[in-house]
Amino acid sequence: MINTLASIFIQAFGYKHEYASFAPGRANIIGEHTDYNHGFVLPFATSQGISFVYAPSRDNSFRIIAANTNDRIDISRQDINNSTSIGWFKFIQQVLKVYSDVPVTGFDMVFGGDLPVAAGVSSSSALTCGVISVIEKINGLGHVAEDMVLKAVTAERGYGVQGGIMDQFTIFNGHKDKVIMLDCHDNSFEHIDFLRGDYSFYLFNTQVKHNLLDSEYNQRHNQCLQGVDWITSNYKPVASLRDITLADLQHLRPLMDKMLYNRVSYVVEENARVLLTKETLINNDAIALGHLLYQSHTGLSEKYEVSCPELDWLVEYTKNNTAFLGARMMGGGFGGCTINLIKGSLNEHTQNQISSAYQKTFGLLPEIIQVKPSSGIMEIASRG
Ligand code: GLA
Repeated sequence: MINTLASIFIQAFGYKHEYASFAPGRANIIGEHTDYNHGFVLPFATSQGISFVYAPSRDNSFRIIAANTNDRIDISRQDINNSTSIGWFKFIQQVLKVYSDVPVTGFDMVFGGDLPVAAGVSSSSALTCGVISVIEKINGLGHVAEDMVLKAVTAERGYGVQGGIMDQFTIFNGHKDKVIMLDCHDNSFEHIDFLRGDYSFYLFNTQVKHNLLDSEYNQRHNQCLQGVDWITSNYKPVASLRDITLADLQHLRPLMDKMLYNRVSYVVEENARVLLTKETLINNDAIALGHLLYQSHTGLSEKYEVSCPELDWLVEYTKNNTAFLGARMMGGGFGGCTINLIKGSLNEHTQNQISSAYQKTFGLLPEIIQVKPSSGIMEIASRG
């Protein structure tokens, strides 16, 4: 990928790039919609991601090419906030806003990769975090990962999605063969070994594009805040849904509005599942892990209501096939991918079976992607 981007760079700008880097995507084993509720998540960085080749520009302007779509932006420093119809450039604008207190040098850049867009694998966070590391490098800013994660979260919130910290945290802190147990209450984390033995994770992309800004993502976030307010006024003071226990749910159930109770109880139960999943990893109990994935999906679909028929279908399908130990929708929902735990690897016959059954039902060909815990954001040494 770097070589392709390097040759686009030289062709477009007439000189060689100076730096190269890679920002991974994010998969999440379990802990969905818990991050913005100060809960637990268990994600990992993927080997798929976005690569960047870049150099400081000679006239302090910005010339940026998206290799996958062949879009190009040429813009001067003072016009940087002009409105644009190019989706990826909006994210870059948000990043530059976050750095508006620093006289950031302009840059020439080509980026591209193998992450499906709007599929729940954090392509927008990979871009945001990648551009942050580009700015840090060119301007020698030297912020630590923790600061850069927060800058990335701020930039993405500027885009309008009231997201949590999971994606950006994972992109900066990924580690080969390790998953991240992150406590979104204080951002403390540990790297945990992935399952030992012959197990693998595959994503099935429904090809139903989800754009979190147009989805009910922000509404769910607000419903959780309403839940916190209701519980504080009527039951006990809590700062977030993190402070509610499974035992509290027994008391709350008959008292709360059904919709609000469903949202709240999903989050509380999902937090408990993340902690159990951590134990299954430590005990290398893939069967128990698989069951937790199915339970998580049921909660997301029935209580949190962020699934869609295509995601539900793909999860149901795996229940009749012994290759699968568990499956659930992954990411914000309303489309995107399922994550599937497999004993061994998924053979071609099974992949073809799923693809053709899904295509018959929905008229779309799912994309099947194996994902492995990989390194976080990194500089790539080779010079163009
Ligand atoms: C998106 C957000 C994350 C998280 C997930 C749902 O990926 O960016 O912060 O809330 O949805 O778990």
